[in-house]
Amino acid sequence: MLKKVVGLYFSPSGGTAEITKRITESIAEVVQVSSVEDVVCECYDIIRKPLEEDMYFDEDTVVVLGISVFTGRLPLPAIKLINQLHGGGAMMVGVVCYGNTSYGDSLYELYAFAGDQGFRTIAAGAFITRHGMFERLAQDRPDENDYAMARSFADNAAGKILRLSGSLVHGLRIEPAPLDIKGCMPSKGPVKMPLHPTPGKNCVLCGECARICPVQAISHDDPAKINVKKCISCTACIKSCPNGSRGMYGPFAEASRLAMEVMYRRRKEPEWFI
Ligand SMILES: Cc1cc2nc3c(=O)[nH]c(=O)nc-3n(C[C@H](O)[C@H](O)[C@H](O)COP(=O)(O)O)c2cc1C
Repeated sequence: MLKKVVGLYFSPSGGTAEITKRITESIAEVVQVSSVEDVVCECYDIIRKPLEEDMYFDEDTVVVLGISVFTGRLPLPAIKLINQLHGGGAMMVGVVCYGNTSYGDSLYELYAFAGDQGFRTIAAGAFITRHGMFERLAQDRPDENDYAMARSFADNAAGKILRLSGSLVHGLRIEPAPLDIKGCMPSKGPVKMPLHPTPGKNCVLCGECARICPVQAISHDDPAKINVKKCISCTACIKSCPNGSRGMYGPFAEASRLAMEVMYRRRKEPEWFI
């Protein structure tokens, strides 16, 4: 019997968090209606509160895993996180969020890695959120239409979850059919970004950026010192800066912003595979 719906998200600037939380809560609501016992719903922000130990799940749990897309791939720290999750046959709903350019192979990667970790992925969706790096791309996303689509995705996924959980008879588990997700396992490593966030004029050296950085690339003593080998340009530091000081500055950043805005102006819509 389903007892828990757990949402986990890797969301440097908060968009993926919002979509993942809504999907998790919507699924929990539907599952609750057809359950006689209380269904627990929990969400974890794995950037702001990294996992201290591996998490183990079982068939009584549904996991919603939301990850923000970097260069059409899953960010490396998110892959490390997936390796800390052990499915034990739990059903998974995979979610990627991207900044209106392309989600590339990320959803396929998520599906493949989740399978390796013992999850049964029954639904996977790609949603659009404001681009963390080029913030004028998809700047008003997610909007009401995105949230309505997230709800619809969650309702469809919940329907499938209920059908599959009802089919566990005398220990005989029905495996969901494979999802026909577009993409493939990338043969190359992730692309390193040539742009890195730096402090602006209002920086008061509070160190919040260094505390939040998921890869410890920022010096605690001098936030202007960045280890560019470690920095994944995720922009969590920009989002966390209490003075709005940190950003992507300089002519190269501005030129990239302008080019991206022209190239990816056309609105993309969420897509899912169930
Ligand atoms: C380093 C980096 C690479 C990115 N690569 C892509 C990409 O390939 N395609 C895309 O549409 N968005 C890309 N984005 C935008 C993120 O997917 C976007 O910031 C994300 O949707 C925002 O999620 P968040 O609010 O949860 O951080 C990239 C962002 C960063 C920081």
